[in-house]
This record gives sequence, structure tokens and C-alpha cells, in this order.
Amino acid sequence: MPTPHIAAEMGDFAPAVLMPGDPKRAERIANLLMDDARLVTNVRGMMGFTGTCNGKPLSVMGSGMGQPSFTIYATELFSQFGVERIIRVGTAGGIAPSVKVGDVIVATGAHTDSSMNQLRIPGVNFSGVADFRLANAAWQAAQTPEAHQDGAVHFGTVISRDHFYFTPEGQTERLASYNVLGVEMEAAALYGVAAEFGKQALTVLTVSDHLLDHSGDMSAEERETRFQGALRLAVAAAHSE
Ligand code: HPA
Repeated sequence: MPTPHIAAEMGDFAPAVLMPGDPKRAERIANLLMDDARLVTNVRGMMGFTGTCNGKPLSVMGSGMGQPSFTIYATELFSQFGVERIIRVGTAGGIAPSVKVGDVIVATGAHTDSSMNQLRIPGVNFSGVADFRLANAAWQAAQTPEAHQDGAVHFGTVISRDHFYFTPEGQTERLASYNVLGVEMEAAALYGVAAEFGKQALTVLTVSDHLLDHSGDMSAEERETRFQGALRLAVAAAHSE
């Protein structure tokens, strides 16, 4: 049955869904990975596609930006459409000095300054963690040379911030000293929703800029094209046993 934000029926989504923030990127990824992608929802222009990739069913759908938007779509996909795994594919700002523009980050955990996960269990700072099986599948896929075509692959934590344009003084430097690899805006929400519904989640990010070293930031065009390495890991996780 359609939900407030997804106009589809049970069976329209594959068990595994890749979720970029931008619905236009969802369309590009769907057409890149699948010959038979069909549009299954388009409420508010948030396109979702389903088809087959390497002979296995796969869906790709936009999530919008930020934790509230991601939470709405992930909740509806997990609770109403039989989705078992969501793999966020997106961009991140680099934080740790070892991370370079073009590298890939697999977020095994996500710190956050958002209240969304704090509200889940009263008195608890909920830890947003990736599903170990999906992270392990990405790890296995990262051992091949093709996985490194855009840059190095890092496994570790990110920070999911609510603000894009505001950062408390010194916070980024402190995060770097804790080897937090990068910043984005959704992973912690995804990990919270997956835990709520007992489902699997992973986040695979391409580093588009570096917060402490702006010398090599990607252009808008590069952001759209340099994500093949991340996509390879995401598909490997989506279709792992
Ligand atoms: N902040 C949040 N999300 C991002 C950034 C950033 O600097 N870069 C790419 N995604």
C-alpha cells in the first residue's frame, strides 16, 4: 500500500535499496547499474527505481538531505515495503588527515550531533553502527584493485552533522584527532532506523572535499561522476549472502 511519501506497492522494491541523497543521482545510478530499471515511486520528485543488477533484484531511491528526510524514507521502506537492507551512497567532507579527495569511506559507525537517535532510548547516547555482514562484504570487495580506482578505501567512523554551514569552533580538529574519517548528514539516522526495525544498513561515501585541506576539492561535475569505486562496494554489500 502507498505510504505518505512512497507511492508504491509491496513487491515494488527489491530487498536491497541503494540510497543517494539526490533523486537525479538515483536515476543516473539506476540506469548505470541496470538495463531494466523502472520508476516505482515519484512522490515529491523523490524517484525510486527497481530492476536487476548482475542478475539480482536491486532498487535505487533518493533520500533527500539530512537525518529527518532519510528517517522518513528508511522507515517506510523497512516497515511497509519488505526492504531488508539499505546502503546509503553519498559524498562526505574529509576530516582525518589520512583521507584524501576521491577516496572512499565505508562508515562502520556514525557519531552525530543530532537529537534524533538521542530520543530513541531515554538516557542513552545511541551508537549508530553499520551491519557487520554488509561492512564485511564491502571489506572483501575492497581487496580488489578495481575498488581503488578513485582512491584509497577507508573503514571507520564518520560524523553525521545536522548543520552544513555551521560548525562549533574547534570541533572538526577535535574529530580529526579521534580519527573520525569524514562528515556527512545521514548515516547516523540510517543506522538508528535499521536498529529500530532489525534490518541491515551500510554507508559508502566518496570524499568530495576536505574540511581541513581545501586544495583538491571536487567540482560539481566531478561529484556526479567520481563515485564508481563507492558504487562497486555498495553493490557488493547489497548483493552479499
Ligand atoms: N558537510 C556535510 N556533508 C558533506 C560535506 C560537508 O562538508 N561534504 C560532502 N558532504
